[in-house]
Amino acid sequence: MATKSHPYTLSKLHLHSQQVIMDNQQPGGGYLACPNMPDYHFSWFRDGAFIAYALTLDGIHNMLPHRVGMAGQWDSATKFHQWCARIINDRAKALERTISHAALGQPLVLADTLNARYRDEGAAGPADWPEFQLDGPGLWIWSLAKYVEVCRISPLPMFWESAVDLAVRYLTAVWRSACNDCWEERSDSIHISTLAAIYAGLGAAQRLVPALDTQATRDDIRAFIFAHGLTPNGELAKSVGLDMVDANLLLAALPDDGLLAPDDPLMLRTVARIERDLLAEGHGVHRHIEDTYYGGGAWVLLGVWLAWYKTQIGDFAAARKLTGWAEAHADAEGNLPEQVRDAMLDPSYYDGWVKQRGEIARPLLWSHAEYLIVQHALRGKDNS
Ligand code: BGC
Repeated sequence: MATKSHPYTLSKLHLHSQQVIMDNQQPGGGYLACPNMPDYHFSWFRDGAFIAYALTLDGIHNMLPHRVGMAGQWDSATKFHQWCARIINDRAKALERTISHAALGQPLVLADTLNARYRDEGAAGPADWPEFQLDGPGLWIWSLAKYVEVCRISPLPMFWESAVDLAVRYLTAVWRSACNDCWEERSDSIHISTLAAIYAGLGAAQRLVPALDTQATRDDIRAFIFAHGLTPNGELAKSVGLDMVDANLLLAALPDDGLLAPDDPLMLRTVARIERDLLAEGHGVHRHIEDTYYGGGAWVLLGVWLAWYKTQIGDFAAARKLTGWAEAHADAEGNLPEQVRDAMLDPSYYDGWVKQRGEIARPLLWSHAEYLIVQHALRGKDNS
């Protein structure tokens, strides 16, 4: 890994984050969510979308040398996007069945939907995992558009275009279905962050493939959220009918294609409640107040995501403070965990999860990706 050509010095954690991500990309292009937890030896569309986005940004300023003269980060992101396109295109028959069933008003057949995660070579995981999640394909399209725009790839490779087209028609057909949220919970509800991810993906798809017309579906999703997705106090709700927020609602302000501008009053109210209900001072952010996974600790990746959001509203001091918490939770090698135990919501659940899955996932590639994203957003903001 070269640092010589960098115009400024990257922090140790920045360099380590690049390394952890690159080291854990698999030959087929998928990223292991975490190398040290067998249940995480899969590549998720969601985690990978943020990882590829982090590399897309990182490749602009901190190009890692690569044998063909391209930023190593972009080469890695290309492989991931290729992996996603392959997973989606390979399932065309099943997804087309889902699209036709939906058009006929027939019930969804889970076996014909996309899983949240796959092995690198494309195999699905054990059947007992809550695989039906709709945010992942939306986030993938959003991340792909960012990559294509930064790297000025034109025309869009046909293999990517067909995957985007299929994913868009699939999401358009099923977005009203209940599914697992991005934490793989609450399979019987419709989640606002999932809808926000689909909304962003459809907007990005429109830019990638102008012949697609996603506007009507985006309008329907937005109208649905305003009609059914708000809490009584006027914040975005975790899921339809719940007077609760979830830190995953930060998704509603994804750059460029987000449902809401970062400083939209609805977004500001939602984040204010996230901070009130879920901020674990000094550590990170809880997912939601009923979380019991590993005792419901504070998630490092959510702390850095909140930092990223703060940069979007120009509060760089808050962003630096939150990023400092994450840095303080890196271990001696620089590995960032998924969550930390310092502020558990219900410690009685911790041991049970350790027995079932082993220690808390670390390094979690998604945490490192969020760290790189926020580093990029803080560039040149030292005195603000
Ligand atoms: C989280 C998912 C995440 C996966 C891999 C799960 O525990 O609920 O959001 O995609 O870990 O990081």
